[in-house]
Amino acid sequence: MNYDGSCRTDCLKKDAGEENKMSMDSETVRLGIIGIGNMGSEHCRNIQGGKCPDVRITAVADLREDRRRWASERLPGAAVYCSGEELISAGNCDAVLIAVPHFGHEALAISAMEKGLDVLCEKPAAVTASAARRMLKTAERTGRCLTYMFNQRTNCTYRAIHDALGSGAFGELKRVNWIVTDWYRTQRYYDSGTWRATWSGEGGGVLLNQCPHQLDLLIWLCGMPKKVRAVCHEGKWHRIEVEDDVSAYFEFEGGATGVMITSTGDLPGTNRLEIDCEKGKIVCEDGFARCWKLSESERSICFESDNPWYHADASMTVMKTDGINLQHVGVINAFADHILNRRPPVATAADGLNAIMLSNAIHMAGWTGEEITIPLNEERFDRMLEERIARSQPKNGYDQTYETSHERTGETINPSSDHTS
Ligand SMILES: NC(=O)c1ccc[n+]([C@@H]2O[C@H](COP(=O)([O-])OP(=O)(O)OC[C@H]3O[C@@H](n4cnc5c(N)ncnc54)[C@H](O)[C@@H]3O)[C@@H](O)[C@H]2O)c1
Repeated sequence: MNYDGSCRTDCLKKDAGEENKMSMDSETVRLGIIGIGNMGSEHCRNIQGGKCPDVRITAVADLREDRRRWASERLPGAAVYCSGEELISAGNCDAVLIAVPHFGHEALAISAMEKGLDVLCEKPAAVTASAARRMLKTAERTGRCLTYMFNQRTNCTYRAIHDALGSGAFGELKRVNWIVTDWYRTQRYYDSGTWRATWSGEGGGVLLNQCPHQLDLLIWLCGMPKKVRAVCHEGKWHRIEVEDDVSAYFEFEGGATGVMITSTGDLPGTNRLEIDCEKGKIVCEDGFARCWKLSESERSICFESDNPWYHADASMTVMKTDGINLQHVGVINAFADHILNRRPPVATAADGLNAIMLSNAIHMAGWTGEEITIPLNEERFDRMLEERIARSQPKNGYDQTYETSHERTGETINPSSDHTS
């Protein structure tokens, strides 16, 4: 687009055929970024800054004129469009990165896959599990890649925990407790976007915006809970209509339990993950994971020890990591590597569905006071959300974009930690 809003696709159209050839020759992925607000513009800065050498931004789109002007100034050579649909139809991308508010993810992702484009979509996958399921089915039918920006999976500490649990060294899970209250937001944050923190614009609060990362990590590390109970306080710390304080209780197949507490109202907040297993425990806080390993399973000790007050002689070690924490850049690079070399992306379409299903289950448990079983009754959830959307109060104001980095948001994990065991 030009600054006045008229399309400037003329000059770009003539390049499209040439662009197609160049892409094949140079073996880079021609990426279109849809939504260049807070997160989309950070993706642009990262790619323009040379952090994603297998990717070229060939197009961007935003509904807002000021963001299109920003793109025209910062991204010479990239076609600039008014809408994601226009970008998808233009034919000068191999793949798209969708960074629009959550309700827009489904339509754009499906449309892109139908047009033969691979899709990297921001978290959460969608507002509802039913939408994420439709996206997954489209990916399966079209054979396109659909992956999600679960950038915290790239954190060396979480990867080390994932590997340790996967190796079986800690035995079966007994309990997971996660306090995630380091997502502090002020009222100014909520007022900075008309869509934010409304049922109609965002579809939820901390569960939809900040905590999708930890919901995904929880499932990645510990598996999908089978039952959920929860209390969701709406507008407890801010003048918003959606939840900003959540306590959830989980039960897993096999009997393990879990608690997750999240809020955007605690200052200073805490990010403490404790995973207790039959053969030891892991505690992740303040930039590293400490672990204690038992020489035998607690289940055997419990029933075989003669000592009524048995004391574990497990010594603490700090989990060794590779120190690499690439965050968003890591996800984009893995997406490109998947397209070019068929290596696995950071997360699958099913991972995106699972994370939003758990989020929906927590909401529904909070709304009803019931214990919710997973898989979720998606139709019932959709009806309950629709009721809230119908009552939602539109917000006045305008949308603001901040030139801030999201690299460290919501985590106190030290990116350069390289502790030895
Ligand atoms: N992974 C992370 O760390 C992270 C961090 C922040 C935001 N996000 C996610 O990114 C998404 C966007 O969040 P944000 O904070 O950047 O929002 P934002 O409001 O700052 O930016 C969204 C932009 O999308 C544009 N847009 C909306 N619909 C469009 C369409 N159909 N076509 C073209 N442009 C369109 C808007 O005009 C706006 O400029 C959300 O889903 C959010 O959850 C992820």
